[in-house]
Amino acid sequence: MKNNIITKIIIGGLLFNGLYGFAQKTNLEVDVTKTITKIQPTMFGLFFEDINFAADGGLYAEMVKNRSFEFDKPLMGWEQPNTKRSSLNMQSGTAVPIKVSGNKTNTNFCRVLINDDKGYTIINEGFRGMGVKKDAKYNLSLKAANHDGAIKKIIIQFIDKDKKVIGETSIVPASNEWKYYTAQFTATQTEAKAKLKITFEGTGTIDLDMISLFPEDTWMNRKNGLRKDIVQLLYDMKPGFLRFPGGCIVEGRTLADRYQWKKSVGNVEDRRTMMNRWNVEFSNKQTPDYFQSFGLGFYEYFQLSEDIGASPLPILSCGMACQYNTGELAPVEELDPYIQDALDLIEFANGAETTAWGKLRTDMGHPKPFNLKFIGVGNEQWGPDYIERYKVFEKAIKAKYPNITIVSGSGPSPDGEHFDFAMQELKKLDAELIDEHYYKSPQWFRENAARYDKYDRKGPKIFAGEYAAQSPAADKSSNRNNWECAFSEAAFMTGLERNAEVVNLCSYAPLMAHEDAWQWTPDMIWFNNLEAFGSANYYVQKLFSLNKGTDLLSITKDGQPLTGQNSLYASAVKDVNSKEIIVKLVNTAATAQEVTVDLKGSKLLSKGSIITLTSPNLQDENTFASPKKISPTESEYNLKGEKAQLNLPAYSVIVLKIKMK
Ligand code: AHR
Repeated sequence: MKNNIITKIIIGGLLFNGLYGFAQKTNLEVDVTKTITKIQPTMFGLFFEDINFAADGGLYAEMVKNRSFEFDKPLMGWEQPNTKRSSLNMQSGTAVPIKVSGNKTNTNFCRVLINDDKGYTIINEGFRGMGVKKDAKYNLSLKAANHDGAIKKIIIQFIDKDKKVIGETSIVPASNEWKYYTAQFTATQTEAKAKLKITFEGTGTIDLDMISLFPEDTWMNRKNGLRKDIVQLLYDMKPGFLRFPGGCIVEGRTLADRYQWKKSVGNVEDRRTMMNRWNVEFSNKQTPDYFQSFGLGFYEYFQLSEDIGASPLPILSCGMACQYNTGELAPVEELDPYIQDALDLIEFANGAETTAWGKLRTDMGHPKPFNLKFIGVGNEQWGPDYIERYKVFEKAIKAKYPNITIVSGSGPSPDGEHFDFAMQELKKLDAELIDEHYYKSPQWFRENAARYDKYDRKGPKIFAGEYAAQSPAADKSSNRNNWECAFSEAAFMTGLERNAEVVNLCSYAPLMAHEDAWQWTPDMIWFNNLEAFGSANYYVQKLFSLNKGTDLLSITKDGQPLTGQNSLYASAVKDVNSKEIIVKLVNTAATAQEVTVDLKGSKLLSKGSIITLTSPNLQDENTFASPKKISPTESEYNLKGEKAQLNLPAYSVIVLKIKMK
C-alpha cells in the first residue's frame, strides 16, 4: 500500500513535470556590484584550418581546381572530352622556362596540341562543381604562350550539368610569349555543379598556366578574394581572435610537409602547391583532389583577421611532425630555421616597412602593421620532446619580442597522461597561455562545466582552443551538429565564462566543411558551392561572442556556481559600453524550468530583452533545406523589481539582457 502511494506520487510528479514544467523554482543571485575580472576582448574567437575544403574549394573563392597543373597528377580536375582529335600533354620541370614570373615553384604548365579546327576542348570540374549564380559576373584570367600565333581564339564557357552553355566569353591570345589575359563574363543561370569549358579555335600548339576564375562579388570586393557569404558568417560573430592555419596542418605528416608560412606569401603564382595532409588522413574519407594552393596564405589570414576585427593568432611548427603520423623530430640543435620562421613572422606582421619582412607586407599592400600579439609554438604535440623544444622557442621569442604572448600546447586531449605531463611542465615554466583541446561526448561537456573552478588563478592562462561535442564519438563520420551537442557546449561555455580569470580565449573546431568534400565532422559552418549556413553550434558560439560583456559577475544558487544542479548552468557579465547586465542560462533538462534571477544591488531599467535558442529534440539540426531551424529569437523583457522571473524551455540556451541606469 505504502509502495503504491509512493509510486503514485512519483508518477504524478513526473506527469506534472512533463506537462507543466518543473514544480520547483531555482533562485539565482547575481552580484552586480562586484567585477570579478575583466573579460578579455579575445574571449570568444575562431579556429581556422584548411580541413574539409575550408580554404581551397571554400573560403578562398577560386573556382578552378588545379589551376596551375601542380597536383601530383598534373591533369587532375581537367577533362579532355575529345582527346581523340588531338592530344594534351604535360610538360613539367624547370627545363621549360616560365618567363612571366621566372620562378621555380610553379613548375608545370599545360601544353595543348591542336590538330584540327573542330573545337578542341578542355573542361575544369571545379571543386565538386562550380557554384554560379544567375546574372553574377565572373573574372577569368590565364597565362598563355601561343606558339606562332597558331590559336586564333579561346572560347570560355560555363556549362551546366546537361552541358548547356550558361555563360560565355573569349580571349584572343595575341602573344607567342607568356602573357596574362583576362576576361569577364556573366552566368545566365544559377547552377550548383557548373563546369568551365575551354575551346580552342585554330590548329597548333598553345601553352597555358594559372587558369583562374573568381566571382566578382567577393568579400570587400577584393579581386581574387574570399567567399563573401562565408566571411559574412564569421564577421557576424564579432570574433575576438582568428587562429590559423590549424590544427594538424601546422605539423605536417612529415616535417617536409609542415605548414611553412614563408611559402604562402608573395605572388600567388609563386606559392608552391602541395598536397593537403587531410587528403589521405582517413582511409574511409580519402580526398585525392585535396591540395593547398596557398592562394589563401598568411598575408590573407592576417588581412581576414583585420577585416573581421579579430586578433591574429598564428600557430607554427615547433620542429615536430604530427605524432599520430610519423612523429618526425627536428633535432634540438637544428631548430634554428624553425625559430627563425617564428621571429620573421613577427617581423612580417609587426615590423616597420624598412625591415625585410615588413617590406614584403608593405609590398603586398599593407604598410600598417597587423598588430600581432600572440604566436603559437606547435599544435597538439606531447611528451618531453615538446617541452624541450618549447623552451628553446620561448627563450628566442621572448629575447627579441618580450611583449608577444606565446601559446603552448597540452596535447590532443584535456586529460590523461600526456595532458597531465604537459600541464605540470608548462606550469613549472610559467607558460603564459596553454591550448587545451576537447573532442568529447555531449555528456562530458555537461559534466565539466566546473572544470576551471579550481584552476590556479595565478597559473598559466587557458586557451580553450579546440572543442566540439562528438555524437556519437570522436573520429566518427556519423557525428552530427545536433542540438544536444550544441546546448551541451553552451553549458560548458558558461563554465569557461565564469572562469574568465583563467580562460582567456575559446574556439569551436573545426570551423567549416564542404558538404561534398569533408573529412571531419562535426563542423561549425557547412557550405556547398552556392550556399553556407551556421549549425546550431554556430549560433551558440555567436550568442556567447556577441554577449561577452566587459566584466565578469558572479551568479550563484545558495552561494554556489550553477554547474548542472537541476540540469541548469549559468554565467553573468556586465557590459560597461552598452550599459547592460547579461545573464546566460542553459537548461539541459527535457522539461521547462522556472528560474528567478535576483539582480542584487543594481540600479536597472525595467526594459530589457531575452534571446532564446531552443529546439524540442536532441537530434534536431540545421540543414541546407532548413538553415535556421535552430537559431535565436529575441523579444522584449520587462523587469519588475530586482528579480527577473524566467521560464526556460526544455533544452534551451537563454540570454537575458537588462539595461543599467
Ligand atoms: O580540428 C581538427 C583536428 O583536431 C585538428 O587539426 C587537430 O588539432 C585536432 O586533433
